[in-house]
Amino acid sequence: MNKMFLEPSVRLDDDNDALILLDQTLLPAEKRFISLTDRKGIWEAICRLKVRGAPAIGIAAAYGAYLGVKNSRAADGEALLKEFLPVKDYLAGSRPTAVNLFWALDRMERRLRAEIMRPPGEIKAALREEAETIRDEDEEVCRTLGENGLTLLEKGWGLLTHCNAGTIATARYGTATAPIYLGHQRGYDFKVYADETRPLLQGARLTAWELMEAGIDVTLICDNMASIVMKQGKVQAVVVGCDRVAANGDSANKIGTSGVAILAKHYGIPFYVFAPLSTVDLSCATGEDIVIEERNPEEVTEMWYAGRMAPADVKVYNPAFDVTDAGLITAIVTEKGIARHPYTEALKAFF
Ligand code: MRU
Repeated sequence: MNKMFLEPSVRLDDDNDALILLDQTLLPAEKRFISLTDRKGIWEAICRLKVRGAPAIGIAAAYGAYLGVKNSRAADGEALLKEFLPVKDYLAGSRPTAVNLFWALDRMERRLRAEIMRPPGEIKAALREEAETIRDEDEEVCRTLGENGLTLLEKGWGLLTHCNAGTIATARYGTATAPIYLGHQRGYDFKVYADETRPLLQGARLTAWELMEAGIDVTLICDNMASIVMKQGKVQAVVVGCDRVAANGDSANKIGTSGVAILAKHYGIPFYVFAPLSTVDLSCATGEDIVIEERNPEEVTEMWYAGRMAPADVKVYNPAFDVTDAGLITAIVTEKGIARHPYTEALKAFF
């Protein structure tokens, strides 16, 4: 394996009927892999962000769907489908915004239906193969995103990123980080600024950590420092991932992303969204159709603090994502090419 990358953060341990995950909630203090064998554990791992990042969620769900029926005693394909559908629905309820979750589960169902006349053992083998293909394709797609993204960036640039769209959020390479990793191999000497990303600190805990592990120049900033680093000329491009891109190019990503896009526009800095086509949802006409997850108030008032840092019973609003208007996005980088305005036509052409 390429030394620049960590071990895969999501993988199947078929011998032990288990999904192996790097528990991202423990990083950077502890690098621990956990083994999950039941659907409840996999649902919780997604919901509690032990596995997170849109592509990694999709991969975990695909493995979970396979494991959910692997030991079924169904007599035929129809009976196996009857057992599969509740597993699929259950896993689909773990988080609402990243479309990769639903995309991967739908793909698993399609594969099962395509094989339905075969003996159950062969159908299960096909489901395992489909989940592994989803993982393998994601690695290749992310590498291509990196190649395409690199054409937009120049040697020595400062790049600001938000949240973690990194190797641990995908099969490998990450989405927004893919050109950073490829550029690192090719002497681009990027200087990365990682927003800490309140409230769950994906930038501080995950992006800063994984880029440092790879020997990449990264500087951590608080979210409210993005403006000053842009004004001081330290940032030549913003690169972010996304959880769902609507047909018109509106892009949902970690809360705070749209604010970064507004700042980038103010300072005349290009703002690039990195989106595998598995993250593009043409059934959402605009960002208005994207469901925004709301999470526990404790993530804002207590988590990461030594003690509570807000008045007891204060009202809290904790949306986990926001939508960046297509008008603020300079380009959307996909594996099929780079989409520019008008996005409706450009994105449709990739399918
Ligand atoms: O709540 P999270 O940590 O799952 O949010 C993740 C993001 O916002 C990422 O930027 C996105 O999923 C892309 S990951 C390649």
